[in-house]
Amino acid sequence: MHMVDLQAFILDLDGVVTDTAEYHFRAWKRLADEEGVPFTREDNEQLRGVSRRRSLEILLGEHLSRYEEAQLLEMMARKNGYYQEFLGQITEDDLLPGARALIDTLKERGIKVAIGSASRNTQLVLDRLGITQIFDAIADGHCAARAKPAPDVFVWAAGRLDIYAQHCAVVEDAQAGVQAALAGGMVVVGVGPEERVGEAHFCYATTADIDLDEILTATAAGDV
Ligand code: BG6
Ligand code: MG
Repeated sequence: MHMVDLQAFILDLDGVVTDTAEYHFRAWKRLADEEGVPFTREDNEQLRGVSRRRSLEILLGEHLSRYEEAQLLEMMARKNGYYQEFLGQITEDDLLPGARALIDTLKERGIKVAIGSASRNTQLVLDRLGITQIFDAIADGHCAARAKPAPDVFVWAAGRLDIYAQHCAVVEDAQAGVQAALAGGMVVVGVGPEERVGEAHFCYATTADIDLDEILTATAAGDV
């Protein structure tokens, strides 16, 4: 990669800033049980970073053809109702370790910080976490026509920040998100296991492990 002057970081929400995967799992599990469709915690890993509709399609699998569009819409709404019940329990304590420190350090260095999430509950989650005001832009599931792995949500965030995509880094915990950021021509920072985020330019185990100096130094030197 050529030399990059990073001017903005776009953070995925679920799995990077907070861990809502467990709540998504419990909500999908309740729906799956009601529909008599098998669904395990392991199956849930496939839904990481994936849109609500695509999640339902994966969950139903071979049973998908049994359902009419209206039934699919009803199931998505039902799952979201269960999910939002869990969101009511979220507080500032649900920020992932290192998330707030990363955001504060970026801002201190004059780097813009945005959210780029597939979730249509982004605003609700950020409000519960008490951090809505600290972002320079918020791009969510309402902003993008195409879900990740299409780059739309990140491109929208970059546009909102008025910063070229090439000058943006994206932090992601999901394979679909890493692919989306790569497709958008951005520097990609993966958090999580190799099999999920291995294609990213930089990989760390968790948000708390992100080494900002390493990223800024390497990108500035064109050493990515
Ligand atoms: C992503 C989550 O951030 O948002 C996915 O990783 C989720 O698991 C997707 O399906 C859509 O979220 P929502 O809140 O719009 O149903
Ligand atoms: Mg995520």
